[in-house]
Amino acid sequence: MEVSVIMEKLFPPFHGWQFNRDGQCTKIPSIGDDDPQTAAPGVKVDAYPTIEKQGLIWAFLGDDPESAKPIMDIPELDDSQYAVIPYDVIFESNFHLAKFSNLDYVHLPIVHGIRFEDQENPYQPPPHTVEKTDYGMTAFIETESTYSKGAWSNVREEGTKVKSILKYFIAGQTLRGQVEIGAIGSGKFNCFYEFSTPIDRTRTMMRYYFFRNFMTHKWMNKMALKRNLKNIFEDKVIAEAQVPKYGPDGMSEIVGKHEDTVIKVYWDLMHEMKDKGWQIDYSAWNKLIEDGKYCVIPSVTRKNNPENWQYPAIPRINT
Ligand SMILES: [Fe+2]
Repeated sequence: MEVSVIMEKLFPPFHGWQFNRDGQCTKIPSIGDDDPQTAAPGVKVDAYPTIEKQGLIWAFLGDDPESAKPIMDIPELDDSQYAVIPYDVIFESNFHLAKFSNLDYVHLPIVHGIRFEDQENPYQPPPHTVEKTDYGMTAFIETESTYSKGAWSNVREEGTKVKSILKYFIAGQTLRGQVEIGAIGSGKFNCFYEFSTPIDRTRTMMRYYFFRNFMTHKWMNKMALKRNLKNIFEDKVIAEAQVPKYGPDGMSEIVGKHEDTVIKVYWDLMHEMKDKGWQIDYSAWNKLIEDGKYCVIPSVTRKNNPENWQYPAIPRINT
């Protein structure tokens, strides 16, 4: 189905006005073939660049798409060695907290019972490396863990280490987690992709692809999904229990020094974006809402032509 048809079904038109990809009004059916810009000069809407990639639609919701970070590739989608299970669920939590449910190492033993058995303190993640990249960051960790206990215990011998690689992409709040679950060198990988889309300040759409290249029979999918969902729903409970619901927007100076390295780098990346003026000024926005003002996400169309907009842009910090 074409995107325009989907959009018409989702948002049935009132007067049928049409707009081009730059947001300019191109047709007003009630005036026939007359030029809309003559009949209603300057009528426009905010427009955002979008692309379709690997079955997902990516929109750049901002006015500086040249600064967009790279979008993650999903090579497993085209690899017949892998079985895939898609899943999505809404977390009633802020998108940062939703992201931490898979990004953070320290919660693994507490929330999921995945302890680091080769550590004197199995609740302490072993030394690991975190590298900043052009897309976000990559984290590597090698450990003997309780990860493959249960139904998948057959793929790994007790006492062997697993290697985990986490890749975090700023674009789309995307996470790729890969665990070589059958011990290092086994070639047996469990892989997940997580896309987090903020719906508002306290709700986040979480979409997942769960991949595995072992036990790939279709009849194993139910067990594999159940296993993955156990973790997701354990995370959901924790993320949704956090207060205040709308935060945080940055690393706390008080508790920050105790944070996991991955979380510290995550906040570094967020603070870099804030310094560029890419963070919402909630205080100013709330005031506009109180004043009855409806606000719109800033767009290129608006930046290039800042005059005569019906609604103001959502205010940002440092802009
Ligand atoms: Fe988790």
